[in-house]
Amino acid sequence: MICLGIESTAHTFGIGLVENRKVLANSRDSYKSQTGGIIPMDAANHHRNVRENVLEEALKAANLALGDVDAVALSTGPGLPPCLLAGLEFAKSLGKPIIPVNHCVAHIEIGKIESDFRDPLVVYVSGGNTQVIAFESGKYRVFGETLDIGLGNALDKFGRELDLGMLAGMRIEELAQKGKKYLELPYTVKGMDLTYSGLVTAALRKRKENINDLCYSFQETAFAMLTEVSERALAHTQKKEMLLVGGCASNKRLQAMLKDMGSKHGARFHVPQRDYNGDNGAMIAVVGCLIKRASQKIDIRPRWRTDEVEVTWM
Ligand code: FE2
Repeated sequence: MICLGIESTAHTFGIGLVENRKVLANSRDSYKSQTGGIIPMDAANHHRNVRENVLEEALKAANLALGDVDAVALSTGPGLPPCLLAGLEFAKSLGKPIIPVNHCVAHIEIGKIESDFRDPLVVYVSGGNTQVIAFESGKYRVFGETLDIGLGNALDKFGRELDLGMLAGMRIEELAQKGKKYLELPYTVKGMDLTYSGLVTAALRKRKENINDLCYSFQETAFAMLTEVSERALAHTQKKEMLLVGGCASNKRLQAMLKDMGSKHGARFHVPQRDYNGDNGAMIAVVGCLIKRASQKIDIRPRWRTDEVEVTWM
């Protein structure tokens, strides 16, 4: 079964082509603004402008025609409404059955496929999301998460104020490697949750300090908070695999801290290749294939009661 995945929840318009678990193409084009922030309507217009080219590029890379595609998987949320609508309108125009896919779950599933992990604890870090997740009783459960902004937004906000440019996260990581002195910053973990906006404000108040030390201290504090929450979730769930996914997963210091913590609990660690950590269409197509395959499994139910029917058509 060949599934075409469309990702358009935020900056990126991506199209992936997947045959069962195998990625055949993963094309994308990302919206960039002058300030590094996102204007939802502009991003949606970007997606409308590039979608035909991205589709053509993906089909070419996979050596397929649209007629070979069995179903379209669409990332229907969470995301920015204008961007989601641009994706929906494109998905409808392709004239195939549409499978709605949760964007966050797609980050998890592509990581599982790449690592061959079956049941990992997942640390999901992106601009808008920071969650510690594990599968339990039929669902992905969130064991801990940010109560305000995501780790990526915290890094972007901090970097923007310090004029570190568009890819602030990468620049902060570089500068942090040269930092030597730890500057005291607020460490806010509440039970299993954490918050980042106070850290950003406090760090910006220290902007006159050495920039390397400031970036180093910011990273150490933000990542230690997340590692603490992840460690408690790992100890509680007793999972023996740990996956770091999402746009901020490529940070080497964060990887090292989580890997080190995981090894103390006997958990194997994996971080997907960069192409699968940023938003992409392949991860959406992967979940489309999984949903489609699961829907083909039909059990007979001799004792099926009227009030057990999920009435989805009303
Ligand atoms: Fe994402």
